[in-house]
Amino acid sequence: MTAIPALVPLPRSVIAIEGAPFVLTAQTPLIADPDAAAAARRILSAATAQTLALPSDVSASAPALTLSLGSDIAPLGAYRLVAGDTGIEISAADAAGLAAGLHTLAQLLSPASEGWLVPAIRVDDAPRFAYRGLMLDVARHFFPVADVCAVIDRAASLKLTHLHLHLTDDQGWRLQLHAHPALTAAASNSEIGGGPGGFYTREDYQEIVAYAAARHLTVVPEIDLPGHTHAVGLAYPHLAADPVVTPELAAEAGTRGEALPTAGMPYTGLGVGFSSLRLDDEATFDFVADVLGELAHLTPGPYLHLGGDEAFGTAPDQYDAFLSRVTQLVADLGKVPLTWHDAGRADVAPETVGQYWGLTTPDAESTDAALAFVRRASGIILSPADAVYLDMKYDDDTPRGLTWANGPTSVRRAYEWDPASIIDGIDDDDIVGVEAAVWTETIDDLAGLDTMMFPRLAAAAEAAWSAPLGSTPERSWESFRRRVGGLGPLWRRQGIAFHPDGRIPWAQE
Ligand code: ACM
Repeated sequence: MTAIPALVPLPRSVIAIEGAPFVLTAQTPLIADPDAAAAARRILSAATAQTLALPSDVSASAPALTLSLGSDIAPLGAYRLVAGDTGIEISAADAAGLAAGLHTLAQLLSPASEGWLVPAIRVDDAPRFAYRGLMLDVARHFFPVADVCAVIDRAASLKLTHLHLHLTDDQGWRLQLHAHPALTAAASNSEIGGGPGGFYTREDYQEIVAYAAARHLTVVPEIDLPGHTHAVGLAYPHLAADPVVTPELAAEAGTRGEALPTAGMPYTGLGVGFSSLRLDDEATFDFVADVLGELAHLTPGPYLHLGGDEAFGTAPDQYDAFLSRVTQLVADLGKVPLTWHDAGRADVAPETVGQYWGLTTPDAESTDAALAFVRRASGIILSPADAVYLDMKYDDDTPRGLTWANGPTSVRRAYEWDPASIIDGIDDDDIVGVEAAVWTETIDDLAGLDTMMFPRLAAAAEAAWSAPLGSTPERSWESFRRRVGGLGPLWRRQGIAFHPDGRIPWAQE
């Protein structure tokens, strides 16, 4: 067949079939259960920037959009889409699969005078990995609920399944908790650059969780421990160790003109690795147990993320004992502990899943730490920083962004890696999934998130969903460039302020 349409992530199989295109209009009949019908109206209205009624109560024999669950389709999240001038049928293993099929349909639409055309086509599709995530750092800069919901819509449109919220860091604590109200009363009104910060009430958090669930995303909350905890000391000085200011940290702060971290004062700089909870005091463990207990109660999803990264201010033996004890605490709460790969060296609870944030060419230390999770058979989520840390600059001229992950990350570099090729001994069976991350040291609004995420989030989504890099001619940079460029008009209609990268042939509508 000719080049396949602009679909990202790349489906397993796309076949052009005989026949004229389907014409979708606001009056196209919709045959679906009420939840799937609501999802179809929402997804297709957003994709067309137009309210599509898609009536369900029609007896007319007009060509219809039909959504149904099919017992012949597996695994969860898989779907089949068949379109032609007599109708569109999407069948799926579950409601998430129907939504995935609808997002594929959204990418197939092209405007015409009589309505929205969908080519005659058959798509059979299923995900490679069940966990397809995006991490949003709401601690370095705070983002209001509406922005988080907009990010959820963007993630859902690329068939992602998990939104990891980095809720706490040195610069602020962003989640209100009944057990410890001082955390938000005293430690939320700061952020990088000196802005006002902010926090989510418990109700806000539950609203985010519900909004995500309605789009088949699970929220993974992170309380970063025992480092990245300077903000805790604003609320509870007795729980925080004094900042450990190394000569490197002081030099970097000097270069940036930032104040050094000081106990009891809000920290608004970019430094990392200087803070720690006091691990020689049982009061810290009581505090952590309260926080994680309340968080587990508020969180329907299976994972609680405990951070564990860059705890350079923590003595190694205390770090190991802390991670061992706190991962077990989370397991005892009935949740799956998740940690950055740094914690692999500790004797963590056996069910702990690791999250690898080293480079696509790993060093020995991060390889060992990552392999520890695989030896324990709990698995690993891959977030190689030089590919899927979407806060890295695209090139030296990108206004926002950082470059510590091996320099800028071009769209091509974000695309050309394969999850099973990073660490020897870590293959598909060991990989829980792939997660992109957007840290927000240099990003303070939704437009900034959009520009840094798009189009690179699409590359990460393809690594998570599609067959291995190079396994088919379409699973290649040349194909991706063309396909992702074809999504420009859709992203404009969806209001996504993507980076108009010069190496991508952006389609005009
Ligand atoms: C990390 O980037 N420190 C997880």
